[in-house]
Amino acid sequence: MEFNNAIHGDNSVSDLYESDECDLGDELEGAAETQSIGITTAVTAAEMGRKGGSSRTLAKRLTAKTNGKLGGRPRKTLATASSNTNPVTYADININRGVWETFSPTQMCEYQEKVFAYYRSAGFPFKYTAAQVQDDYRKLINYDYRKTVSGDTIAQVMHGQTLCWSFHPHAWSVECGNMLTPVQAFRDDTLLRKVIAKRIAYGDNMSDAGLRKALKTYSGVQAVSNFRALSAAAIYDLLLPAEGGHVYDPSAGWGGRLLGALICDKVRSYTATDPSIATWVGNEQLKTEYNKRDIPVVLGNLGSENVRPDPDSKDLVLTSPPYFNCEKYSDEPTQSSTKYPGRDEWMNDFMRRTLENCHYGLKPTGILAINIANVRSYSTLEDDFVGLAAACGFRLVRTLKLALSVMMGTRQAGGDKFKFEPIFVFQKAL
Ligand SMILES: C[S@@+](CC[C@H](N)C(=O)[O-])C[C@H]1O[C@@H](n2cnc3c(N)ncnc32)[C@H](O)[C@@H]1O
Repeated sequence: MEFNNAIHGDNSVSDLYESDECDLGDELEGAAETQSIGITTAVTAAEMGRKGGSSRTLAKRLTAKTNGKLGGRPRKTLATASSNTNPVTYADININRGVWETFSPTQMCEYQEKVFAYYRSAGFPFKYTAAQVQDDYRKLINYDYRKTVSGDTIAQVMHGQTLCWSFHPHAWSVECGNMLTPVQAFRDDTLLRKVIAKRIAYGDNMSDAGLRKALKTYSGVQAVSNFRALSAAAIYDLLLPAEGGHVYDPSAGWGGRLLGALICDKVRSYTATDPSIATWVGNEQLKTEYNKRDIPVVLGNLGSENVRPDPDSKDLVLTSPPYFNCEKYSDEPTQSSTKYPGRDEWMNDFMRRTLENCHYGLKPTGILAINIANVRSYSTLEDDFVGLAAACGFRLVRTLKLALSVMMGTRQAGGDKFKFEPIFVFQKAL
């Protein structure tokens, strides 16, 4: 794969190519000129807005930052809130309903306070055990992703989610509108006590996974969702040519489409970009551990409005970009809705340029598949997006329906009801 980079004093997309071959993943420090992600980029050093270090160094820094923020400590050094002489261990709080039911009201109050003290000391439970992640991976690779497609509908299967989240702890802090993030709810003493009580009322046991679930589903709290790896694999299989092909993802997100590419036989290479440093680091690590087929995977850390794949090099673009300002992924100035806060400028300066770059990188037979949906702050986003894509030289040929979470309270005899979001599928207009 050719590694091309062009860094300029302005923000314009450029076709300039430089021949230096280097690895974006290893160098960030003041190194606009040493970055290379196999895609042509044009961006100011200031816009990149990041300090140096290898992806590993960055990962350490991010982990330290997150631990500091959440007050996390290793499990073995935990102590109760009231007394350091009485440490509470995970084993003390990790018990199930059968035991809870033997508790007197006083014992239950004491237990709840113990759980509270444990988590206050341990920090947000964003760590997954190696066994959980391995089990999730085993289920993922043993599942036939083709089974998730039925006509135009892509069913939801969750295998691979735990694995992806284990590389993206920062996703628990993403803000969705006016809702609290799970991390904000966790930090609030009153809310944390209520969440623990809810878990005990409705759950079967107390565990890190159980507390995460209770936090995520607590009223007033909203957690983000990730693109399902099996849905991504199914879509690659559906839309790539029979002999397979090359995929570009202009908003990589939390690795669902990356993981899907790693397990889908038809994907010959996966190239992606995302301006969030934490997300890029997480995906670099995911790639390092799970690229079992050893396909070329190139991850960039730039905004897609400034990234051009090599011309006519991609068979499929599949992504789920930001839905304007619906979710706040990070405080970084490179985030699309931070950089372009108005709806029109976001459409024109972020989305239009991204689509033009995709058009440039797609082969004449290439396909663009975009998951995007109307949101409260932009109620005509879908229609405006489809119109913009047409203006950028794409012809809508199909709309897939992507199943998302089961809607609360809608389970019924006829089967579960899902929320669906469109995936607009385009070809290059002739
Ligand atoms: C997480 S996805 C949207 C959620 C979707 N359900 C998913 O998982 O794919 C949106 C991603 O777009 C990224 N993003 C923000 N600004 C961007 C830009 N200028 N160019 C490309 N991606 C951008 C965010 O960092 C985020 O990771």
